Amino acid sequence: MKFDTPATSNPIDQLKVVGKAVDRVDGPLKTTGTAAYANDRHDVAANQAHGYIVGAAIAKGRIVSMDLTSARAAPGVLAIVTAENAGKLGKGTFNTAHLLGGPDIQHYHQAVAVVVAETFEQARAAAHLVRVEYARAQGVYDLAAATDSAKPVESNGAAAETAVGDFTVNFAQAPVQLDASYSTADESHSMIEPFASVAAWNGDQLTLWTANQMIAWTAADAAKTLGIPADKVRVASPFIGGGFGAKLWLRADALLAALGARAARRPVRVAMPRALIPNNTVHRAATIQRIRIGADRDGKITAIAHESWSGNLPEGGPEAAAIQTRSLYAGPHRMTANRISVLDLPEANAMRAPNEAPGLAALEIAMDEMAEKLGMDPVAFRIANDTQVVPDNPAKPASNDPQSKAPTEKHNPHPPFSQRQLVECFRLGARRFGWDKRNPLPGRVRDGRWLVGLGVAAAIRDNLVMKSGARVRLDRRGFVTVESDMTDIGTGSYTVIAQTAAEMMGVRLERVVVKLGDSTYPISCGSGGQWGGNSSTAGVYAACMKLREAVAQKAGLAVGTAVFANGQIRAGSRSIPLGEVAGDQGIVAEDAIEFGDLNKQFQQATFGAHFVEVGVDAATGETRVRRMLAVCAAGRILNPKTARSQVIGGMTMGVGAALMEELAVDKRLGLFVNHDLAGYEVPVHADIPHQEVIFLDEVDPTSSPMKAKGVGELGICGAAAAVANAVYNATGVRVRDYPITLDKLL
Ligand code: MOS
Repeated sequence: MKFDTPATSNPIDQLKVVGKAVDRVDGPLKTTGTAAYANDRHDVAANQAHGYIVGAAIAKGRIVSMDLTSARAAPGVLAIVTAENAGKLGKGTFNTAHLLGGPDIQHYHQAVAVVVAETFEQARAAAHLVRVEYARAQGVYDLAAATDSAKPVESNGAAAETAVGDFTVNFAQAPVQLDASYSTADESHSMIEPFASVAAWNGDQLTLWTANQMIAWTAADAAKTLGIPADKVRVASPFIGGGFGAKLWLRADALLAALGARAARRPVRVAMPRALIPNNTVHRAATIQRIRIGADRDGKITAIAHESWSGNLPEGGPEAAAIQTRSLYAGPHRMTANRISVLDLPEANAMRAPNEAPGLAALEIAMDEMAEKLGMDPVAFRIANDTQVVPDNPAKPASNDPQSKAPTEKHNPHPPFSQRQLVECFRLGARRFGWDKRNPLPGRVRDGRWLVGLGVAAAIRDNLVMKSGARVRLDRRGFVTVESDMTDIGTGSYTVIAQTAAEMMGVRLERVVVKLGDSTYPISCGSGGQWGGNSSTAGVYAACMKLREAVAQKAGLAVGTAVFANGQIRAGSRSIPLGEVAGDQGIVAEDAIEFGDLNKQFQQATFGAHFVEVGVDAATGETRVRRMLAVCAAGRILNPKTARSQVIGGMTMGVGAALMEELAVDKRLGLFVNHDLAGYEVPVHADIPHQEVIFLDEVDPTSSPMKAKGVGELGICGAAAAVANAVYNATGVRVRDYPITLDKLL
């Protein structure tokens, strides 16, 4: 089904099941410990051996020699795979560094071997007997020292640099100016489930049971890396204990399980120890950001510039933190730039709301600082600079000529937002939170030993859409089974997909069976970029439209007038149970939703306003978050319960980014020092006393037939800055370098 005109009324609008806060359909499996996570897959292949990864002990250089003698002789060892004996390996589309390094080492803890043994403990013990001699080369590990060499770089098709009007002149002439620099830290995804995979070969056919967000990408990259045909790889990932972007692609656990299984001629399981994850896998890159804002005395922005610097391995992408500044606030004169320096730290890549999460962490402090300079309330200042069109939408270079700056034919420099209720989010949030009680003078409110402050920030995150397929089957019991390679990374995909099928086919939720996360099912959008909920359910909608047609045809009824309700198809006076129509053979339909260019005609974005109250201990500088409210406008909310969970999860990660999360860089050796959950701190329940989420009523007919948008990444956007602004309001200390640890407040 092609989706290229705004959606009209359709069966989803009944909202009998969709839009209801139903419990997760996969909840009982998870709460009873029976959900099959990758490292629990004892069942899928008999005689599993265990692989243990050896990570490189240098950040850059070469392996001079490897001595495997002692390791090979250790008890239980079956095979050791290194770059020397692995055979020729390709490189996937999505990983920057090789997943099995050697002889060249590209980053610290890059895998250099996998030791396969009968038991996990034997593999681990033998892995420590692998002797590697390195020749260390000098790398570049300090972003702040490397910005001079930075180059502007585009990010997933978004221009590296943009300019509208004349920023320099108009900033210089602005009566009120801010010029400030901010930094955000390297961050680790820290999802609850570490990386793990079971690999089994059946002849030349490989199956990977793994933890992964994007099944089709990963199957393709496994095939590409191993040099085998794509149809020889099956990837199964039915349950995933969080991903946040770290599991978007093939990682070393899956590849080394496959290589280990090939060498040992046995199924092999590789579970990555937590302490290997920050350096071996991916992280969110640190940023340095310079923001300049000029405004007239009435608080209208006249000039705004946002420049961002981040680092990555050669050929790695940027953390494009300036991107949202092209669309969030009005202002005639503007410039943005995303620049990147080559660093020899581990691979940087997408983490929940890449670009916007660190970008808004800086921009929304800058807006707070600017409001103070203007003597304006920070909510009023933001409302005064709202825009209903995108102020800075650069033309994309013609695709056949990357050098060309010629705009594409349909390019609109100022497309309208399909929906933009940012102002409404602020107004409602301010009322609900009691914003009028905020003392605009910082450091004046005391509650016992606590200095109390309130902070606010805007959230914006684009609504991306992706082609997504599904297969639906109606059986003689009247059950509907949905199959799709869509994943559920804790987001609620199983649940919203079940709701969609139930709504479309007029059956109770209990009569829908959802099977996900397997490459033998139709290719979906997968879970990433907060596109999963809307796009995957739209794919199920498309398949169900076909199934409705097939059912009506078999029943001898006109699909145009047929009603699907109460487990029956009804037209005129005739009413037939769906199971009866399906008969013994059942009825199967498959389709995919494909998106036209509605998201170019209309800028589809999601919006929110964060309100935070903190207390800062007047003596120790310890910050405690006291309450948080997010008001969100994100299209139709398919399930308020799972959507709320996504938003509070994002808000919680925002608190982490604001107050505690930081991969500490050893700038001599080029590694992240704090590589486990003892050293890398994330918020826990005790850190988050009260969170509230309000969704505004919104349907977006340009987004999909579901009229929904993403929420999975919106909640983190702006949350860190709201905390930072509350800390400033509490203390009068303006910290521009995240995380805001207590030493920076004293
Ligand atoms: Mo997301 S960072 O695209 O999983």
